[in-house]
Amino acid sequence: MASQVLVAANRGPLSYALADDGTLSARRGGGGLVSGLSAALAEQPEALWICAALTEADGEAVRRGVAEPGVRMLDIDPAVYDDAYNGIANSVLWFTHHVLYDIPREPVFDAEFRRRWESYEAYNRTFAEALAQEAAEGASVLVQDYHLALVPGLLRVLRPDLRIAHFTHTPWAPPQYLRMLPDYARETLVWGMLGADRLGFHTEAWATAFLECTHLDDAWGQAEPTGARVEHRRYSVWKRRTTEVSVYPLGVDGDELRSLAHRPEVDERLAALRAEVGDCRTIVRVDRTELSKNIVRGLLAYRELLTSYPQWRGRVVHLAFAYPSRQDLAVYRDYTAAVSQLAQEIDEQFGTPDWRPVHLHVKDDFARSLAAYRLADVALVNPVRDGMNLVAKEIPVVSEAGCAVVLSTGAGAYGELRDDALAVNPYDVTQTAKALHEALAMPGAERAERTKRLAAAATALPPARWFAAQLADLAKP
Ligand code: G6P
Repeated sequence: MASQVLVAANRGPLSYALADDGTLSARRGGGGLVSGLSAALAEQPEALWICAALTEADGEAVRRGVAEPGVRMLDIDPAVYDDAYNGIANSVLWFTHHVLYDIPREPVFDAEFRRRWESYEAYNRTFAEALAQEAAEGASVLVQDYHLALVPGLLRVLRPDLRIAHFTHTPWAPPQYLRMLPDYARETLVWGMLGADRLGFHTEAWATAFLECTHLDDAWGQAEPTGARVEHRRYSVWKRRTTEVSVYPLGVDGDELRSLAHRPEVDERLAALRAEVGDCRTIVRVDRTELSKNIVRGLLAYRELLTSYPQWRGRVVHLAFAYPSRQDLAVYRDYTAAVSQLAQEIDEQFGTPDWRPVHLHVKDDFARSLAAYRLADVALVNPVRDGMNLVAKEIPVVSEAGCAVVLSTGAGAYGELRDDALAVNPYDVTQTAKALHEALAMPGAERAERTKRLAAAATALPPARWFAAQLADLAKP
């Protein structure tokens, strides 16, 4: 049966595992986008989620015709998928949007890049064709993220009747960064995005950056601001269609998160963490092992805290939890190794027989992260650039005694949390160390007050409402 509401994202709500006896079982998928969308789609039981088969077991499920209701996995040729996901989406588009290049050496756009770009186009075309096949007349299609930036344009050609939205979960590149891409890649990217009726971003800054990038090529027509804020900008494309650019800052579902944080397995981990840290104050960070999260400078700031504010030695523990991510890419493996190395150096420099200053865990354990959220006195969220950063929103919601949030101005969440967070320039290690000191020294009552306000801001647009708002706007002419 054709669907009225469709979502397309690289990652699906579930992934399969293949047991030794050959049986397949479905498990929940991971990552911020997946948790946000899964929560939103729980209220849209008729929706169809189209995603890529990510593992061998997922591919096997597709080949055997095993499927969960509401999910269609696409079994894409592994070489094409690797080029598109690792070679373009994560090595080029992610780096461009997050301004991560090591400029004297990167990026290099050669014949190999061109070949991978063609795979990225093929991967996007597979999604567009599947959506065209599954969508009912006039259906609403909500495409997610930089992996699928060409889908709106490709789908528009196949099915002009559809209402098409695209949401970007990352920042958008400043124009001088997008300009580094070869012309054909940049033009196709913007063409793909502008195939949508509506484009969504987490913050006005990212939406504005996208609009600025459209000025790089005359072909796209002119942005027509119809109001002072981005929400009201209209953009004419191909002289006959309009793309509306809007801001939907994703928040967290407070009730859901608090109930997850009080399950027995979280209580158990909390007890273990309490035993581990004893009477020490805690500085907590939780990230993927991701370059843009700036974990190395975070550790340098912690080292500077222990050097410049020695009163904290023996009285504070840094709980740094990192979920392994994108380990197929050498640069991510190297970064993860650098994080471990630095954590060890700090332990060797300052540790004593009964005090270990850094407790680094590189492991995917959401229950332990929730336990750390409950315990945290200080949260360190210092990405160089981040689409939103939901950790900054989750910690104040779950914190038990109040938690001071040291927050990078480069995080999307900074826009909504700025009044009650301690702002830091993510490159300024000394300023970050000082902010950590101030956060640790903040009186309990002030911390609790700020945490209450941070939690209110963090829950302003929970996933279900975030999604419903986009769906309702998409139906507007
Ligand atoms: C970011 C992206 C998401 C992605 C997540 C995890 O939040 O915006 O699209 O799901 O990272 O990355 P991964 O490469 O593991 O899907």
